[in-house]
Amino acid sequence: MIVKDAEFICSNTEIDKLPIANLPEYAFIGRSNVGKSSLINAMTGRKGLAKTSQKPGKTQLINHFLINKTWYLVDLPGYGFAQTSKKNRSTWEKFIRAYLINRVNLQCVFVLIDSRLEPQKIDLDFVCWLGEQGIPFQMIFTKADKQSGVKSDQNIAKFRRAMKKWFEELPVHFLTSSETKLGCEQVLENIDAINQQFEAPIE
Ligand code: GTP
Ligand code: MG
Repeated sequence: MIVKDAEFICSNTEIDKLPIANLPEYAFIGRSNVGKSSLINAMTGRKGLAKTSQKPGKTQLINHFLINKTWYLVDLPGYGFAQTSKKNRSTWEKFIRAYLINRVNLQCVFVLIDSRLEPQKIDLDFVCWLGEQGIPFQMIFTKADKQSGVKSDQNIAKFRRAMKKWFEELPVHFLTSSETKLGCEQVLENIDAINQQFEAPIE
């Protein structure tokens, strides 16, 4: 898929102020600093579209981007950001979980996982929660440029092995880099295929 058009629509902390749910929507979620915003910029070829930072906790709101005027890409705040207060964390949890459960046009959640790391409990807990809720998701392993392909593949295999304790079938996964754009085209093609199946929810 060629991204001809990518437009920031809105930032939100309230579920009832989200854009009308009439277009297919895809959300990026994962630990703080895993590279969600960077990957949105790499996939759309727009460097400053989503705000990125070396410091974790940059994205604080639900940000909607309209792509090719036909689908939404959503940048979410990261989880597991130690500096955030407990109160903040539970507000985040409630808000994001409510969004993920109730958003009727959400076609797929992309869970971003750092390909440099061994399986982390926080990521495994989160994919298990998505599984329990029956929310469709796929996994994107990020920052592939930071180490050898062998190392990334080992970490991916370990993560998938850990998931097998809870999942009968494992979802699709991708290996990406925002620096080299590895995997960006595959993620876009995959979104394109899901878009073809989309039927607008009845309001
Ligand atoms: P929060 O908004 O805080 O949850 O973080 P985020 O997941 O949106 O991460 P962000 O895209 O802001 O990236 C965090 C840091 O990682 C930045 O310094 C990026 O430049 C860097 N980064 C992200 N993706 C990649 C990648 O694929 N390769 C390399 N080398 N660096 C990356
Ligand atoms: Mg971000």
